[in-house]
Amino acid sequence: MKVLVLGGDGFCGWPCAVNLADAGHDVVVVDNLSRRKIDIDLEVESLTPITSIGERLRAWEQVGGKAMRFVHLDIAREYDRLLELLRSERPDTVVHFAEQRAAPYSMKSSATKRYTVDNNVNGTHNLLAAIVESGLDVHIVHLGTMGVYGYGSHRGATIPEGYLTVEVPQADGSRFTEKILHPTDPGSVYHMTKTLDQLLFYYYNKNDSIRVTDLHQGIVWGTNTTLTDRDPRLTNRFDYDGDYGTVLNRFLMQAAIGYPLTVHGTGGQTRAFIHIRDSVRCVQLALENPPTSGEKVKIFNQMTESHQVGQLAQKVADLTGAEIRYQANPRKEAIENDLIVDNRCFIELGLNPTTLDDGLLAEVVDVARRWADRCDRSRIPCLSAWTTRQAEAIRTHA
Ligand SMILES: NC(=O)c1ccc[n+]([C@@H]2O[C@H](COP(=O)([O-])OP(=O)(O)OC[C@H]3O[C@@H](n4cnc5c(N)ncnc54)[C@H](O)[C@@H]3O)[C@@H](O)[C@H]2O)c1
Repeated sequence: MKVLVLGGDGFCGWPCAVNLADAGHDVVVVDNLSRRKIDIDLEVESLTPITSIGERLRAWEQVGGKAMRFVHLDIAREYDRLLELLRSERPDTVVHFAEQRAAPYSMKSSATKRYTVDNNVNGTHNLLAAIVESGLDVHIVHLGTMGVYGYGSHRGATIPEGYLTVEVPQADGSRFTEKILHPTDPGSVYHMTKTLDQLLFYYYNKNDSIRVTDLHQGIVWGTNTTLTDRDPRLTNRFDYDGDYGTVLNRFLMQAAIGYPLTVHGTGGQTRAFIHIRDSVRCVQLALENPPTSGEKVKIFNQMTESHQVGQLAQKVADLTGAEIRYQANPRKEAIENDLIVDNRCFIELGLNPTTLDDGLLAEVVDVARRWADRCDRSRIPCLSAWTTRQAEAIRTHA
């Protein structure tokens, strides 16, 4: 298949692009390199040293991979170039990773809130409008988040894959049943943009029959796949800082450098997780099993297991001997929640989940130990607060 990977230079996008090329697909990586520019602005670098996009692509070709091309393009701002790219490449599938993806970064200031909304909502809408204008039948595989469902309001109910069957009472006392998009409950400006993406997909699917698979992904952990491990120039990024680092990778990296594990609040928050290798595999499964023409948006819960954050920290502490330090929570969120998730779609398509117990935790600690001298400890704390109240709490507990 011809595949455009939007955001293909990012943490999830790069190993995904490489995997699709390895599987024989004709891959074009599209990225505006904004993630690398944000690193410069924040004065922080990936823990693992990553090469430029040009060197990555040359290395991939040299180690025997099917060559990929690169297009430097901003999908949120360069509509005409995006349309032209679709017309010239005529892709079967567009995999869409190209968004600002850090909740803490989105909550830093009004400037980062506005950037996140402008970038994410315009990017997704430009893609949909350009596909309609091109007249092509393109399948979009979009990376959404489990966070669209929210955390804390499910009261033990299993979260279905995107749609909820509800009973609607009528004036005469009768009821009818309806399948609706699961209500959204975003916990940050970033998560809110993902709920807006959902509505855009819903509308363009209904109005223009655009085929979409929306992957509600859990928090990704791990760093490399067997393919990005083939050559140091293919190494994937590893974010550890308070804005972009994700919780489990942060714990593993903190343990590796002897920094107390930063548990926010009570650690009672439960979240969904997936290893980068499974994330890559899921995107391939979604791409190779597209919705049929006229089918409504396919929504998959792309996660393999749920864990309470405090229990995760304990698991990492047991493995490494690290100390745990409870800190004021910068986020405005439920102190504790349960999270039961239906992920049958991918299991039925053949996903064999990688779990936390597979020795991969230790592998991530090893990677982090190897690059420990690249870590700037001052960038570990999460200082981006959801409201002035949380900001005050962080200050007083510092
Ligand atoms: N990393 C996770 O744990 C996680 C979890 C759930 C969902 N996701 C979703 O997966 C997707 C990818 O996440 P990631 O961790 O790889 O993030 P990332 O920031 O590492 O990668 C995103 C890539 O998109 C590019 N990009 C951003 N805006 C763009 C634009 N307007 N035009 C062109 N390129 C643009 C960036 O330069 C970057 O290379 C995101 O949509 C994110 O919401 C990630």
